[in-house]
Amino acid sequence: MTNEERQYLIGFANEARKRAYAPYSNYRVGAALRTKSGRIYTGVNIESAAYPTTMCAERVAVYKAVSEGEHEFEAIAVVTDNGGTPCGSCRQVLAEFGLDTVVIIADAGGKIHHEMTVRELLPGAFTPDDLPRT
Ligand code: THU
Repeated sequence: MTNEERQYLIGFANEARKRAYAPYSNYRVGAALRTKSGRIYTGVNIESAAYPTTMCAERVAVYKAVSEGEHEFEAIAVVTDNGGTPCGSCRQVLAEFGLDTVVIIADAGGKIHHEMTVRELLPGAFTPDDLPRT
């Protein structure tokens, strides 16, 4: 992935982040997921007055992509104020669709704090390969 491609994806995540619905935490998260087919799906965190029903930006992006028939991902950019990393649930959902997806973690200024694969982000992940098939 070139630096230009990274910044392009981060730009999408940052733009999406403006649409985060985070009235309770005020912690706004934007994500942009690039599929192998070259499409980009964005996501934002969506909070709820019933706190546990809040949904993270990364999973919104993945669910949007999957609901459009996309299962193969290349990279996801996640943008927050401080370069926070994806939560455990988001790591698990990303792992479902491949351990090689690159995760770019950046802040609102476009600075990359971490870049790693889902394999590195969730070592020893439980994946579809762990389930016996009939
Ligand atoms: N959040 C995300 O959107 N992604 C993560 O991986 C970590 C947490 C959101 C959920 C909640 O709206 C806010 O950040 C604070 O936890």
